[in-house]
Amino acid sequence: MPKTEADKTKGVEVWSDIYKVLSHPRCVNCHVPDDRPRWSGKHYGKTQVHGMNVQATATRMGKPGEQMCTTCHAKTNSDVPHGPPGAEVWALAPVEMIWWDKSSKELCAIVKDPSKTGGRDISSFAEHISHDALVAWGWNPGLGREPAPFSAEKTVAMLEQWLALGLPCPE
Ligand code: HEC
Ligand code: HEC
Repeated sequence: MPKTEADKTKGVEVWSDIYKVLSHPRCVNCHVPDDRPRWSGKHYGKTQVHGMNVQATATRMGKPGEQMCTTCHAKTNSDVPHGPPGAEVWALAPVEMIWWDKSSKELCAIVKDPSKTGGRDISSFAEHISHDALVAWGWNPGLGREPAPFSAEKTVAMLEQWLALGLPCPE
């Protein structure tokens, strides 16, 4: 809980910049409520489910024995326009980590709820952002794709500041 009104106001301000990152297409395209990754953002004409009938299944990595994400997504970005982007691993986020289409207020409650973050508190949430290969890809998405705003380091710093201010959410 924020200690003062001023902390609360400042904290909500910091959160809204964190929200700009977490709700960016480079992040939410993988943090979806079902097993269909999304194609959204300036680079795509319209928001749509991933083409080619891609299904992540319960594995979140594709259809075992048929078609895995890594059938197309290599360890590095394709250098062809609209070619598949790539990173060390490529998979859809776990079902409980749903960020797609969430308002600032909704997503704020989600990141503070350990049942929706795989048990992570804000410090380990920030820790994940500082080292994860898929998160890093969001700032290095390759040809024609708009990167997430700020940087991983800045996002970690904002999460630490938000924590120190008592993790207030917008009303
Ligand atoms: C048949 C090939 C193929 C398979 C299999 C595939 N993808 Fe893709 N994926 C692509 C291509 C090509 C693009 C880029 C499309 C474009 O830029 O127009 C893409 C783009 C994406 C994007 C959008 C990235 C962004 O923000 O611009 C996400 C997310 C994604 N894939 C996730 C997955 C996941 C998760 C799986 C496995 C469940 C998967 N893909 C399986 C070919 C594939
Ligand atoms: C290609 C798919 C993909 C993209 C793109 C992606 N993520 Fe994720 N994300 C995942 C997967 C898979 C996990 C689960 C990893 C784990 O728990 O170790 C995850 C988990 C997370 C977690 C831990 C969440 C929690 O609630 O504990 C954070 C934080 C996170 N992602 C942030 C981001 C941010 C920020 C971006 C954009 C800059 C991003 N992700 C883009 C697939 C993706």
